[in-house]
Amino acid sequence: MEEGAGAGRHGTLGLAPLMPPRGPGPGTEAWGGGGRVARPRSAFVCAGCGHESARWMGRCPGCGEWNTMAVAPDPPAGGGAAAEPAVARLLRDVAPLEGERLASGVGEFDRVLGGGIVPGSLILLGGDPGVGKSTLLLQVAGRMGCGRPILYVSGEESVAQMRTRAERLGALAPHLLVAAESGTDRVEALCERHRPALAILDSVQTMRHPDCPLPPGSPVQIREVAAALLQLAKERGVPVVLVGHVTKAGLLAGPRLLEHAVDVVLLFEGERFSPFRILRALKNRFGSTQEIGVFAMEGAGLREVADPSQILLAERATGVPGSVVTVTLEGRRPLLCEVQALLAPPSFGTARRTAAGIETARLALLLAVLERRARLRCSHLDAYLKVAGGVRLEEPAADLACALALASALTDRPVPGDTAVCGELGLGGEVRGVPRLGERLAEARRLGFRRAVVPPGALAEAPSGLEIRAVRSVAEALSAVLGAGAAEL
Ligand code: TYD
Ligand code: MG
Repeated sequence: MEEGAGAGRHGTLGLAPLMPPRGPGPGTEAWGGGGRVARPRSAFVCAGCGHESARWMGRCPGCGEWNTMAVAPDPPAGGGAAAEPAVARLLRDVAPLEGERLASGVGEFDRVLGGGIVPGSLILLGGDPGVGKSTLLLQVAGRMGCGRPILYVSGEESVAQMRTRAERLGALAPHLLVAAESGTDRVEALCERHRPALAILDSVQTMRHPDCPLPPGSPVQIREVAAALLQLAKERGVPVVLVGHVTKAGLLAGPRLLEHAVDVVLLFEGERFSPFRILRALKNRFGSTQEIGVFAMEGAGLREVADPSQILLAERATGVPGSVVTVTLEGRRPLLCEVQALLAPPSFGTARRTAAGIETARLALLLAVLERRARLRCSHLDAYLKVAGGVRLEEPAADLACALALASALTDRPVPGDTAVCGELGLGGEVRGVPRLGERLAEARRLGFRRAVVPPGALAEAPSGLEIRAVRSVAEALSAVLGAGAAEL
């Protein structure tokens, strides 16, 4: 039956690609000629998604849009062969990139860029709506003191709204120019007239290229806008920061589409109810992607946070069962944060697992390891695990701290407040090594921690003044931290 269906499909729709496109056939110039094997050019292309087809269709099979198929443009004359022959040069004879980086005036922003803004670069700043992208860039625009104008073009807000926001942020600098525009041609004209040191465009979802009839935010429009801005950045040497909203409802495609076109992709992240915001580089042609910038959103805008660990631990109540401190790596920076656990009899029916800042599946896995490898009876209980301060713990190095927090909550025995815990847990209950433990332990020591529970073989990396307890298994960690018999309650 399946074969029959397959044959049917080939019998109808399968015919279309076999039909040659309009115009000359194989063997003639348009097909490549010269004995080269060339792919036949599609005669129609969808303006919405770029889907190619040999025949015209009212509805694009690629994106489902109506009336978007148009005659494909002709390829460049000469098949792209340049007049000059292609040459490769010895790499050591090539002059390195010249030009000073521009300091943005916001240290954490410069740090993530690798030491400032490179002239002529195109930077994409992505993030959820409302995370603080416009706030960050307006603060950058207000603080950048380079003696030349900074241009902030918004397609989302009026200039009066920008003025109000800038007043609130203390960013009402004399060199800051604003415009409420959305056409790339108009942005180009503004750059031509004012020759800014930096152009900020907020956002790519509201920008449009004058020759593209599709609505702003559609994939083709976004591609056209990016191409125009790339040209603006490279030809005039104006660095351009482009804002891109990332949303679950499909606009993700927008900024993601741009990633390969731009020089730098920055992501601004934060939990809705936490003031902390983390800026990280997903791609950086001019620097590392390991650096992060930490900010706190406050009434007067974003404040740079030089010592995030201290703030994350500031509200910690020591001596409470279920609370454990671990050292995670955010980019290159070690960050101390508190994991909290609570176990309670199920309110009704089956036990529930609820986690914030950590995957629920990982919580379930850790409970299973505790139950089977440390003989802690906990699978029948409701389990809650939370990372304080809105931090997301993704790396496995936090496993042991989470497991200890759960065990501490279950046994009602607190983990000593001067103890930091690092280690990955295997399904056999074994404790595994974590990368860059030395740096993590040094940070713990700096913040006043006196003891550390770590994987075996870590003694060499420990800073002085820190009492190291190396544990091979989760059961051993439980007895070391919570006392004798904790592993068999
Ligand atoms: P915004 O920069 O407009 O976000 P985005 O451009 O990423 O969409 O930030 C909006 C949020 O920031 C808004 O919910 C209010 C908050 N906010 C402050 O808490 N303090 C401030 O000084 C400003 C300007 C905004
Ligand atoms: Mg905004």
